Amino acid sequence: MIFFRDQDISHESHIRLGRLFGALEGHPVIPHAPGHPELLLIRGVEGVTLSEEKVEPFKAFNKWHTDVTFRPNPSIASILRARTIPPVGGDTIWADAAAAYRGLPHTIRDRIADLDAEHDIVRSFGGRVSEEKRAQLARDFPPATHPVVRTHPETGEKILYVNHTFTTRILGIAEEESRELLTLLFDRIKVPEYHVRFRWSPNAIGIWDNRSTQHYAVGDYWPADRLLERVTVSGDVVSR
Ligand code: SIN
Repeated sequence: MIFFRDQDISHESHIRLGRLFGALEGHPVIPHAPGHPELLLIRGVEGVTLSEEKVEPFKAFNKWHTDVTFRPNPSIASILRARTIPPVGGDTIWADAAAAYRGLPHTIRDRIADLDAEHDIVRSFGGRVSEEKRAQLARDFPPATHPVVRTHPETGEKILYVNHTFTTRILGIAEEESRELLTLLFDRIKVPEYHVRFRWSPNAIGIWDNRSTQHYAVGDYWPADRLLERVTVSGDVVSR
């Protein structure tokens, strides 16, 4: 995770910056800036505009996640730029998922070493769209399977690679065991010792490695407005 403040760059420069890391991808649900399909408009929490009726069921979508793990090759990095920031709140928290893995008891590390899990866009974004669009998402993005523990291709670190937003179940074990294990693993990401929390200012930029982190947009500012813009660098193969 790297932060820069006061970078009043154009959409084109943001996109150019992203392309230094690789090809950029759009998103099937999150809207984009006019004329720039790779520049996603993150309004509200993870692309959902907060409104009276959405604040109540809010917990349903404000979850820890790694971007787009529903894809077979999930993004390697994202670059987020702040446009409109509420006077109070609206921070983002990132968790070091390699530290979370290292913090697991040996017995759990042994238990999850060879397991795979399913990641599904419908689990999260399915709740934000019409029934028709939900069916389309399910057709376009069948659940992806990734190892529960991935190895970072550059650092060689082991990374806990299940997240509350997209991971639906661990494969090859009983449903109840999968639920228990996922609850335990999702909870480890919430441990504050693994976190960095950023207070945004207009034109601040955050760049993160999407392979080894998870993040959480704190939804504590409604009815104030919040708008960030993200480019997402296309992914690599997830290896154990
Ligand atoms: C994201 O999930 O990429 C956006 C995080 C945020 O809105 O702070």
